[in-house]
Amino acid sequence: HIDRAALYRTEEIVGQAVAEALGRGLIKSRDELFITTKLWCTDADHDLVLPALKESLRKLGLEYVDLYLIHWPIRMKKDDTDSIKTLHFDIKGTWDAMEECCRMGLAKSIGVSNYSCAKLSTLLQYATFPPAVNQVELNVAWQQPKLMAFCKDKGIHVCAFSPLGAYGFHWGTNAVMDSPILKDIAAAKDKTIAQVALRWIRQEGATPIVRSFNKERMRQNLQIFDWELTDEEVGKIQQIPQQRACNPTDFVGPHAQYKSLEELWDGEI
Ligand SMILES: NC(=O)c1ccc[n+]([C@@H]2O[C@H](COP(=O)([O-])OP(=O)(O)OC[C@H]3O[C@@H](n4cnc5c(N)ncnc54)[C@H](OP(=O)(O)O)[C@@H]3O)[C@@H](O)[C@H]2O)c1
Repeated sequence: HIDRAALYRTEEIVGQAVAEALGRGLIKSRDELFITTKLWCTDADHDLVLPALKESLRKLGLEYVDLYLIHWPIRMKKDDTDSIKTLHFDIKGTWDAMEECCRMGLAKSIGVSNYSCAKLSTLLQYATFPPAVNQVELNVAWQQPKLMAFCKDKGIHVCAFSPLGAYGFHWGTNAVMDSPILKDIAAAKDKTIAQVALRWIRQEGATPIVRSFNKERMRQNLQIFDWELTDEEVGKIQQIPQQRACNPTDFVGPHAQYKSLEELWDGEI
């Protein structure tokens, strides 16, 4: 599962890596991979979705993506300046175009990212194809039980970004990797803190998307499937203080569609 986005500017390099893996016989076919990419906010408009996906596919060198996500429920103006200008986001028109991408076979499935329960409810009123996935910040320090229950009820799979709290990133938090509760559980089970954090997400029924540039840590992060956390350990994890790390203050303000983070997250903050 390779999680990318137009914003990350890594689609070309991922495309090259896929081609190389095929060429070297590391994979027999592209079908062995699950490749996600995301629509950036500057293209979050009915008429811009299809050209944006086609451009992503060109860069990836693929005929289809497995999952195409609306990156944020936000539309931004294309601008040469560094300042972010937001426009009105047409949730229905943008989703209609996402569905068309699916009908055309360019995306096997479609979904959203950074959607609250309220925004998912609005979308579900319009959607012919309900979103397959909501990719959101989810980790032991931001457990989102209300959103998890809502998505489960509606059959929307949750992908967990920043499963380690975006450790070391400029907006990230140490609340996961420095958690004394995780530290104790990890020591008792002879696992690492990261493994406990990722296993917890797995047991919640979500898919963690973890980032590492370190081969050893990549291997370690995959070793979460043949053991489990006990109910008592899960109970302790539920005691970890909760705080959202991903709070994009640049996306909100007096001239933006959402005046505050409270509005962006529909109070689910
Ligand atoms: N949809 C969205 O809006 C959105 C937002 C943010 C992120 N994402 C997606 O989610 C992915 C992951 O989230 P993230 O990058 O924010 O943060 P993350 O995966 O929670 O944390 C990444 C950091 O953890 C470190 N790390 C990884 N494994 C480790 C281990 N076993 N032990 C110790 N440190 C470890 C990494 O360092 P090393 O590289 O040195 O190992 C890196 O600094 C992104 O790559 C992206 O695909 C999506």
